[in-house]
Amino acid sequence: MSAQLIDGKLIAGQVREEVAANVAKRIAAGKSKPTLATVLVGERVDSATYVSSKQKACAELGMGSVSKNLPADISQEELERIIKSLNDDKSVHGILVQLPLPSHLNEERVLQLISVEKDVDGFSPLNIGRLAQRGREPLFVPCTPYGCIYLLDKAGVQIEGANAVVLGRSNIVGMPAALLLMSRNATVTVCHSRTKDLPSLTRNADILIVAIGKAEFVRGEWIKPSAAVIDVGINSKPDATKKSGYRLVGDVNFDEAKEVAGFITPVPGGVGPMTIAMLMKNTLRAAEIQNP
Ligand code: GUN
Repeated sequence: MSAQLIDGKLIAGQVREEVAANVAKRIAAGKSKPTLATVLVGERVDSATYVSSKQKACAELGMGSVSKNLPADISQEELERIIKSLNDDKSVHGILVQLPLPSHLNEERVLQLISVEKDVDGFSPLNIGRLAQRGREPLFVPCTPYGCIYLLDKAGVQIEGANAVVLGRSNIVGMPAALLLMSRNATVTVCHSRTKDLPSLTRNADILIVAIGKAEFVRGEWIKPSAAVIDVGINSKPDATKKSGYRLVGDVNFDEAKEVAGFITPVPGGVGPMTIAMLMKNTLRAAEIQNP
């Protein structure tokens, strides 16, 4: 193995410790307890698992949490009424609506309604719009891309002037990751399902962020020697040697990539733990903005 492993579990742990220390300091100073409201609509097992991990993290870091677990057939009006009541609730500092929502609901209208200073996911049009414009600062940066950039910084990877390639253009990861890299003065190429000759583009990447949801899609020979590879994918792959019958793999073929890359994140234990750590950091920031 030639690549240096970027240990997301370790770095996320450090972020969490720092957040917990600042939460304790706030509370000791008589200020409000940073509190996150999670909104889960329906019974998707993956969404329910993510939301309960976010709630658990709040408790572990000394923060408060409120959970709204809503039926899959909730109306748009009722969901909007709940978001408005969370906006008005002074004891709630951050609001997170777990995505995706059931298809009868209008996600855009829901995200637009979250007040900008409680938008700890950074998905409201105002936060994304500010991220996209030069000279403007979003109040919150979406948690997974924020975690990716944080890992690059911690590993000492130079972003300014680098050729960065992002695979995937989702609203949650690819698009905000590309905007963040651009704001840090990287030269950014965004690739997607219609991109022609993907390997010729990835081979030019000093930084490669992969978020396409396809197990071990990126091969070793697609990677520029010494590149920094950030793998956002979490896919399960059948594995008869495991008791569960499967194991988790990323969107990058790790065994091949680690022989070529300069830096690489593992799956699990890379980007995954960073998402919740950055959400906790954003929720603390939300409390600091609302009750300095
Ligand atoms: N669904 C998948 N990732 C995320 C995330 O980071 N935030 C929210 N709200 N929903 C998601």
